[in-house]
Amino acid sequence: MDVAAEAKKLLEENRRETDGHQYTIPSAEQYPYQWLWDSCFHAIMLAQYDTEAAKAELRSLLFHQFPNGMVPHIIYWKPGILHLFDWGVEGTSSLTQPPMLAYAAWEIHRHNPDGAFLESIYPALLSYYRFLVDKRDPGDHHLIGIINPDESGEDNSPRFDTPLSARADITYNEHLALRSKLVTDNIACTFDAELCMRTHFWVKDVPFNAILVENLRALAHIASFLKHEDGEHFANLHAELIAHAMRERLFEDGVYWSAFSADHQKLTVATWAHFAPLFAGLYSKEEAAAVVYNQLMDPDTFYAPFGIRTVSMREPSYRARGYGDNFSWRGPVWMAPHWFIYHGLLRYGYKKEATAIRDKSFALLEHAGFRECFDPETGEGSGARGFTWGALVLDMNGE
Ligand code: GLC
Repeated sequence: MDVAAEAKKLLEENRRETDGHQYTIPSAEQYPYQWLWDSCFHAIMLAQYDTEAAKAELRSLLFHQFPNGMVPHIIYWKPGILHLFDWGVEGTSSLTQPPMLAYAAWEIHRHNPDGAFLESIYPALLSYYRFLVDKRDPGDHHLIGIINPDESGEDNSPRFDTPLSARADITYNEHLALRSKLVTDNIACTFDAELCMRTHFWVKDVPFNAILVENLRALAHIASFLKHEDGEHFANLHAELIAHAMRERLFEDGVYWSAFSADHQKLTVATWAHFAPLFAGLYSKEEAAAVVYNQLMDPDTFYAPFGIRTVSMREPSYRARGYGDNFSWRGPVWMAPHWFIYHGLLRYGYKKEATAIRDKSFALLEHAGFRECFDPETGEGSGARGFTWGALVLDMNGE
């Protein structure tokens, strides 16, 4: 199978247009709307060979930005469509997702410099990152909080079991009910983090904050290119402050752990979150070597025959199968973590290890097709079919 050709074909099949807004859906059968970090990934893939489509992807994403700067994690586009939860707003969700927007915008620009495009989306980008920094850090700790596991993009990851009071063997539907209740609770406290965090879910998640650091740096590049000194200063300053705070409050025993509640209690569940900081260069060279060789490459924890487990095999919550039994983010391999880890490894010069992840990613797609997630032990696919994330391999080409 020509994986790259199949990837491009899928991106085209999953492309939609509503009222002149062009976007790509994650999967026709299961996710027929627009998702935030998915669209950023789609833009990164499209930037490789169709920058106009990549730009359209980000423009449509920003069209439904809230007045306070938040970019919602789902845009339904068509009215009357079935929603997973009642989000308390019309036409979109009321949550956000890992903030990959600036990285995607800079990636488009890197492939095809276009100052006018960057200028056109810059105010929206800036107000989104200002929203995160201003509204999601009411205690001024320089760590950004998420108000629902869905905001991490890893909906039922066991990282969140303690703050959700979820059992290690919780079923997918039980988990969904907990998250649904959280949405209702947050509607009641009007999504005001300062208010909601006192009694509801409030997690300083490692991948979210690491991704934010790297995106603030991308925003700084954009602002510098456009000669917006204030924006450049804002982005560089907060990238540094967040990186520093992560080190102070989330780093222990050589790895980063997410934390919850106002007093930053660590959530010591071993997940791929240990590797997300590689993407943002948050480990020293020596620390990275230990993380790569003792954790990532350890077959008894993360390094599986068919990819990197999203949860260590040693965790009681670890489940190899995805949606068939609905365990999705409790162990199975997903392409987005593979992509983050691949780029993190390259950043530290681990070319051989990065190539191995790339090869495993291609092998999975050849073996199981473009599925939502994969059994790390057998390579069997599960969840949605025709899932666009598989096309991230287009951006796993050694750069
Ligand atoms: C699932 C994933 C989430 C993704 C969405 C759409 O809910 O957990 O990360 O954004 O599907 O693909």
